[in-house]
Amino acid sequence: MMQYHAFLSHPSSSVCPRLSTSTIKSNYSISDKDLESRGFYLRRTPNGLNLAELNNIFAKVGFPRRDPAKVLIALENSHSIVWVEDTGTSKPVAFARAIGDGVFNAVVWDVVVNPSFQGIGLGKVIIERLVDDLLSLGISNITLYAEPKVIGFYRPLGFTADPDGIKGMAYSTKEKPNVILLITLKKKRMVV
Ligand SMILES: CC(C)(COP(=O)(O)OP(=O)(O)OC[C@H]1O[C@@H](n2cnc3c(N)ncnc32)[C@H](O)[C@@H]1OP(=O)(O)O)[C@@H](O)C(=O)NCCC(=O)NCCS
Repeated sequence: MMQYHAFLSHPSSSVCPRLSTSTIKSNYSISDKDLESRGFYLRRTPNGLNLAELNNIFAKVGFPRRDPAKVLIALENSHSIVWVEDTGTSKPVAFARAIGDGVFNAVVWDVVVNPSFQGIGLGKVIIERLVDDLLSLGISNITLYAEPKVIGFYRPLGFTADPDGIKGMAYSTKEKPNVILLITLKKKRMVV
């Protein structure tokens, strides 16, 4: 499968940017309160996360199922997690996480929305929160891998491809190496 590497970063990030609180979004596309009124809770820790159901969502969207014990380790090693719980079933319906060094760089992984809940804004909900959580930590370089069919989902959220022509690369043991596309932030979220 071809993979694309998406970058979310401010061009000035190499000159010691400081994060302004004004760069953090307070007006999300769907507020926490509106989410709750629609029967969804926003979660930011693995507590209560049904890993079997998360695996079901992975399988439904074509991601591989994973050993729950390893998923748990991955979650413990992720410094930011955002997921949405359906309060009716207590099951996760949307999920995303980020790993990183805690100060400069983060990589977003496992962005999924249960297909039964896609198209109602939950993907946007989790990415908006995850990005703001990372920015609030002062992390200015946020990247992800995106399949070609979801590039259009990430663009309005501030991600852009091939910043300054920079290409990402991924080590691959496959005969045909992955194709990588860089995406960088277009919105001004950082001040220097
Ligand atoms: C990609 C995914 C996370 C989007 O989640 P979602 O909840 O359906 O998306 P939303 O309803 O929040 O959509 C937000 C906006 O993005 C748009 N959008 C959603 N998916 C899109 C896509 N594949 N391409 C272009 N735009 C897309 C929506 O039309 C909406 O636009 P609007 O704000 O103008 O109304 C979801 O489809 C998914 O889980 N896909 C399978 C797993 C996957 O590919 N994950 C990404 C791995 S990199």
